[in-house]
Amino acid sequence: MPELIPVLKRDEIARKVAAMAKAISRDYQGRQLVLIGVLKGAFIFLSDLARHLELDDVKIDFLRAASYGDGTSSSETIHLIKDIDTDIRGKDVLIVEDILDTGLTLSFLTEHLKAHNPNSIRTCAFIDKSERRKVAVDADYVGHKVKEGFLVGYGLDYAEAYRNLPDIYHLKID
Ligand code: IMP
Ligand code: MG
Repeated sequence: MPELIPVLKRDEIARKVAAMAKAISRDYQGRQLVLIGVLKGAFIFLSDLARHLELDDVKIDFLRAASYGDGTSSSETIHLIKDIDTDIRGKDVLIVEDILDTGLTLSFLTEHLKAHNPNSIRTCAFIDKSERRKVAVDADYVGHKVKEGFLVGYGLDYAEAYRNLPDIYHLKID
């Protein structure tokens, strides 16, 4: 049976999301912000974050990426499954991810969105997991840092399960 070890409770998550929203609201005062959520994992975090922003001009869109490997993780490539339909030319874009792990997804999506000629692109990840990083990317806004472990809950899944859990857990399978 998989074991769920508590990592972050909902009240700690809420405090961290509010702090991130405060920093983002300060940095994007008077700008036209487009939040771009990475499906599916970011849907809960993005909805909480968006409701805390104190900004007048916020738009929201989503995209979806998937990674395919041939069994050796170093040859993983990222593909776009669903693109945005918002016009981001000249806008300030913030990519919203549930978790930053190898960095492959965020670096691919940043390059992809640059081609749409936004005014700026920054990244936001609720969890920054450092141990398996393959490309040198850092998120501009981070909620919580962990070194390792497979996390579920608050949008994060294991084989599509656990996304609905309000708290975040370390999933131990043995
Ligand atoms: P990256 O491209 O390796 O940075 O991967 C980011 C994506 O991998 C995330 O958006 C998640 O979908 C998935 N992922 C990475 N680590 C975890 C985890 O601990 N739990 C659930 N999903 C994860
Ligand atoms: Mg994801």
